[in-house]
Amino acid sequence: MPAPLIILGLESSCDDTGAAVLRARACGRADILSNVVASQTDLHAAFGGVVPEIAARAHAEKLDLVVEQAMACAGLALSDIDAIAVTAGPGLIGGVLSGVMAAKGLAMGLGKPLVGVNHLAGHALTPVLTDGLAYPYLMLLVSGGHCQFLRVDGPDRFRRLGGTIDDAPGEAFDKVARLLGLPQPGGPSVEAAAQAGDPARFDLPRPLLDRPGCDLSFSGLKTAVLRVRDDLIAARSGLSEQDRADLCAGFQAAVADVLAVKSARALAGEPGLSGFAVAGGVAANRVLRARLQAVARQAGLPFVAPPLALCTDNAAMIAFAGLLAFQAGRIDDLTLSARPRWPLDDRAAPLIGSGKKGAKA
Ligand code: KG4
Ligand code: ZN
Repeated sequence: MPAPLIILGLESSCDDTGAAVLRARACGRADILSNVVASQTDLHAAFGGVVPEIAARAHAEKLDLVVEQAMACAGLALSDIDAIAVTAGPGLIGGVLSGVMAAKGLAMGLGKPLVGVNHLAGHALTPVLTDGLAYPYLMLLVSGGHCQFLRVDGPDRFRRLGGTIDDAPGEAFDKVARLLGLPQPGGPSVEAAAQAGDPARFDLPRPLLDRPGCDLSFSGLKTAVLRVRDDLIAARSGLSEQDRADLCAGFQAAVADVLAVKSARALAGEPGLSGFAVAGGVAANRVLRARLQAVARQAGLPFVAPPLALCTDNAAMIAFAGLLAFQAGRIDDLTLSARPRWPLDDRAAPLIGSGKKGAKA
């Protein structure tokens, strides 16, 4: 019996530099031997968003180190690797280029095959890696840079059912935190403040619920929070702790309502699914998770939320998507290019807008 395939994955499309080693198992699954992520959060903290040039330079500096760490954690040598998978887009172009160039160097130096991976496919296939979820399933990807509903029919068969036409939800959480003077990243601080808040005190909009389909919008909601904040400040010359908590709770409830209604709609329109899965940093939100879990239960489907380290950007998901592509015979050569935009479903109409964390594709 041949030895199981070993694959090295690299990720550098946004502000996390990642390297991971996976070993193939039977039935399209794999074991994660190592998964190393070097976050750049501190480098960008002073700028209120990811600075592409700083990100690209930091990736170029860190890639060698995370590869070394990932190999050491896996207890393997580079010569044990059968293929190298790398995020080739979508994302911030400088970062993606850093990863693609590092992967090409390794592939050439080691004489191993190279596989370019779509970052969104990495997220979308994670429930197969973590839970062995069977195709077809519905994936809701909610992060600082992405927001879309994908029907996943196979390792390279995706249909986008809808997505944000402006901000990603994580971006909206971050902006609301900034408006209210709460620390970044905004999601966890808004969630914490919301615990003491009344979600019904302010009448905040539920954008696009009146429109058919599964597209989403979060920019108007953020502006509504800004207006309420300004009215409160004008009326009382400041914000109380309770005002802050109530605004956070109201905003979070509005995001959860919109995502729950659109998820139910997406599930209702796609019979024969094996489950409903989420990925992305915003999927860490407990109020949102509970709402989405209830939506899955009502649809009679299992709900899969991978562990947080595999929900946020990481190289294990890239190695896994690369492994499935490699097993299907899809290999790239040294002409592989970095793509800032790369829709998973090229039949879907392009989504408008590009968030602070890169193209939404
Ligand atoms: O997936 P991720 O780590 O990075 C990318 O965007 O690629 O997601 C980060 C986003 C940030 O905008 C952060 O505020 C949000 O996820 N986030 C949350 C929570 N934890 C992180 N949003 C809402 N509630 C949370 N508990
Ligand atoms: Zn991502």
